[in-house]
Amino acid sequence: MLLVVTVFIVIFCSVQAEIPSYIKVCKRNDPNLSKCMLDSIELLRPKLKSGIPELDVPPLEPLPLNEIKLRTGPDQAQINCNLTNLLVYGPSTFKTLDLKPDMKKTRFLAQFTIPILYFEGEYDIDMNILLLKYKGQGPIQGNLTDYVVNCVLKADKIQKENQTYLKFRKFNLTLFTGKSYLYLRNLFPEYGTVLADGTNSFIHENTDLFMNEIKPALEDSLADKFTDIANSIMEKFPFDALFPDG
Ligand SMILES: *[C@@H]1O[C@H](CO)[C@@H](O)[C@H](O)[C@H]1NC(C)=O
Ligand SMILES: *[C@@H]1O[C@H](CO)[C@@H](O)[C@H](O)[C@H]1NC(C)=O
Ligand SMILES: *[C@@H]1O[C@H](CO)[C@@H](O)[C@H](O)[C@H]1NC(C)=O
Ligand SMILES: *[C@@H]1O[C@H](CO)[C@@H](O)[C@H](O)[C@H]1NC(C)=O
Ligand SMILES: *[C@@H]1O[C@H](CO)[C@@H](O)[C@H](O)[C@H]1NC(C)=O
Repeated sequence: MLLVVTVFIVIFCSVQAEIPSYIKVCKRNDPNLSKCMLDSIELLRPKLKSGIPELDVPPLEPLPLNEIKLRTGPDQAQINCNLTNLLVYGPSTFKTLDLKPDMKKTRFLAQFTIPILYFEGEYDIDMNILLLKYKGQGPIQGNLTDYVVNCVLKADKIQKENQTYLKFRKFNLTLFTGKSYLYLRNLFPEYGTVLADGTNSFIHENTDLFMNEIKPALEDSLADKFTDIANSIMEKFPFDALFPDG
């Protein structure tokens, strides 16, 4: 008998998983659903940096980026550069500027700002400036400040064990208008600091060349991670429990 009761409780509890206190439930007909969801994100945000193991929510930081290969250069220079082992810190400091939910279409428009993103990794560079060739490798660091993130989120309703759940498609995420600063350490030590300083100011003046390659990798990685985080939560609790009717 005890066994039966225990089995019953285990099954019952696993189906009707209780919503933890750090997840704010929003009524889907709430006249100010946007406000409720903004509060919900704020409540959850402090937990995102290191993840929520009990819900299989992965840590948001550090955020790894795929290898970036830069093959460009302005007129007087040709740059080949590989960036590897890139890790990004700071995405969990995002602030939500605007959120427009459309519950009928389960589509959400969101705008965030990220005050500071800091990244570090390794570079391997091969440059041709004014017919001189330089090769070098070492640590790269960069800061991106005040980037704005536009995000389009579309979820599908899926059926699982007679319950409706939301599942997000990969977020469509665009970064824009921030300021960026890159620093390559240990550049061409055999040529002395004059060249290294000169090259860093060259890179500083041409940060956009690097950012044009770094930005899509960053957008892709942020989109993957945020989608993963959202879906880890959505698959634990039915739609009716997270967004009850009435
Ligand atoms: C929703 O809440 C926000 C913030 O409290 C408020 O500025 C806005 O007027 C509210 N909108 C509606 C439709 O109640
Ligand atoms: C970058 O990686 C490619 C292979 O993926 C390699 O051929 C190249 O030498 C590396 N270094 C630079 C500076 O391009
Ligand atoms: C980048 O940001 C970090 C953390 O805020 C700071 O310590 C560092 O000095 C900044 N580096 C540059 C090159 O601006
Ligand atoms: C789903 O609901 C149907 C009809 O209400 C029922 O026959 C079936 O056993 C349920 N399946 C599960 C997995 O709960
Ligand atoms: C993603 O957003 C960008 C910019 O807002 C837009 O141009 C693009 O069509 C969108 N892609 C999808 C698949 O929605």
